Amino acid sequence: MSGTVCSPTVWWRSGTVYQVYPRSFQDSNGDGIGDLRGITRRLDYIAWLGVDAVWISPIYPSPMADFGYDVADYCGIDPIFGTLDDFDELVAEAHRRRLKVILDFVPNHSSIAHPWFTEARASRNNARRDWYIWRDPAPDGGPPNNWLSNFGGPAWTLDEATGQYYYHAFLREQPDLNWRNPAVRAAMHDVLRFWLERGVDGFRVDVIWHLIKDEGFRDNPENPDFLPHQPEINRFAQVYSADRPEVFDVIAEMRRVLAPYGDRVLIGEIYLPMERLVAYYGPDLDCADLPFNFQLIQTPWRADAVADLVENYEAALPPGGWPNWVLGNHDQPRIAARIGLPQARIAAILLLTLRGTPTLYYGDEIGLDHVSIPPDRVQDPWERNEPGHGRDPERTPMQWDDGPYAGFSTVEPWLPLSADAVSRNVEEMRDAADSILTLYRRLLGLRREHASLSVGSYRTVPLGVDEVFAYERFEDGTTIRVILNFGEAAHRLPLPEGTGWTVLLSSRAGQAGTRLRGDLVLEPSEGVLLLLS
Ligand code: NOJ
Repeated sequence: MSGTVCSPTVWWRSGTVYQVYPRSFQDSNGDGIGDLRGITRRLDYIAWLGVDAVWISPIYPSPMADFGYDVADYCGIDPIFGTLDDFDELVAEAHRRRLKVILDFVPNHSSIAHPWFTEARASRNNARRDWYIWRDPAPDGGPPNNWLSNFGGPAWTLDEATGQYYYHAFLREQPDLNWRNPAVRAAMHDVLRFWLERGVDGFRVDVIWHLIKDEGFRDNPENPDFLPHQPEINRFAQVYSADRPEVFDVIAEMRRVLAPYGDRVLIGEIYLPMERLVAYYGPDLDCADLPFNFQLIQTPWRADAVADLVENYEAALPPGGWPNWVLGNHDQPRIAARIGLPQARIAAILLLTLRGTPTLYYGDEIGLDHVSIPPDRVQDPWERNEPGHGRDPERTPMQWDDGPYAGFSTVEPWLPLSADAVSRNVEEMRDAADSILTLYRRLLGLRREHASLSVGSYRTVPLGVDEVFAYERFEDGTTIRVILNFGEAAHRLPLPEGTGWTVLLSSRAGQAGTRLRGDLVLEPSEGVLLLLS
């Protein structure tokens, strides 16, 4: 039965998640790359900000072909990031501050350097051969089918020595594991237990919808909507290479591994249309606790489009399925780059007041923008394969102060800082009443103060103004109305007669505490939270 039937206030429902990209958070040993001790050093900041959990992108031993998403040992720590002792200390220190720790679990593929793959490719009859996905060449000697790599080019690489192709949904250095093989599942369950025993509070599972592929390896159909500027993978609809019905058994099994450990969370990374996304809660709410909802990243930034999205998502959720929202991550252009800084403040309010668990991406709270990467400093392999699609601009170092290298490192960091690092940093912004950091922190504080914002119900409030999206969150007699101006014009908005409202927060500094009578004047790109009183 369900692994998710639990109190409405279990931490991952009422709480917030903060994603740390470990290479870019804090360097503690002067190599220009962030590490575990660096994260531990910054836990006070994370706790001060007011989030509840830290999700750390992969820290396992890895050749770093895809910066850790190519795992060579699922139960270790890469020396770049530190040691298992450093990890244990991080978990202990996080827990001391009541912060949960979520690990990135990368089960779809290992590194080509993983001993499992070394064995698998040794010969066709090696006991581990079937741990990966091997096929004979097509009659013309080419790849077995038309599946493409997410990073460009074919998804099949010929292993000359054994004369078969292996499948890799990403880089050729990231061979896909064969999740139809029970031995692979058992080994991976042991990996989960290894980290659960070390005290981790959950997992974000990488590309969870990819785990099972079509048994017959049928060609993917052409995508009629493909546009030339899109990554090559979009030429075909990923109908047979991912999102197969058998995947739910695999996820439910993972969920059952977590179940004896109590309130640990299973988050699934899923880029699928809404109706497919919500299937990942599982037929009996027995799969992902939180199938990551990236719809705010994919929806045009307009009040009407976002309002529709929220309504549609709320309607699509299975009964008992808990919503979640994501604005950005290490694979997507920064929110400030997508919609501009004034609207990034509106986005912060939206993220932290919609119903559902929000995931914040490190650096968004200081308004980090797209950082231009000179050609000779490109790191992301995707950028090399398909220029223009690289993810380095959103992976640049966190900016802590106006010192050398923004307090991130004592040497030139692995990726450049933003041009405005001297002013765009935590130290400069933490006490500034009008900074985006202060806005984030106040919102996170209000979520903790008001159950209506964290676990309360949701209803849209139609105001009839195109550029304005309004909704209410309510719980136990408390109602908070959120009004967001997506446009650049001011609006005078009548408040319901006979009601009194107090401004709890505005994206403009200095408004909180104001008691409203009559109308609300909403300035351009202003967002407010009003408490019905
Ligand atoms: C999704 C991760 O978020 C991304 O960074 C990575 O490159 C791919 N999965 C492959 O693991």
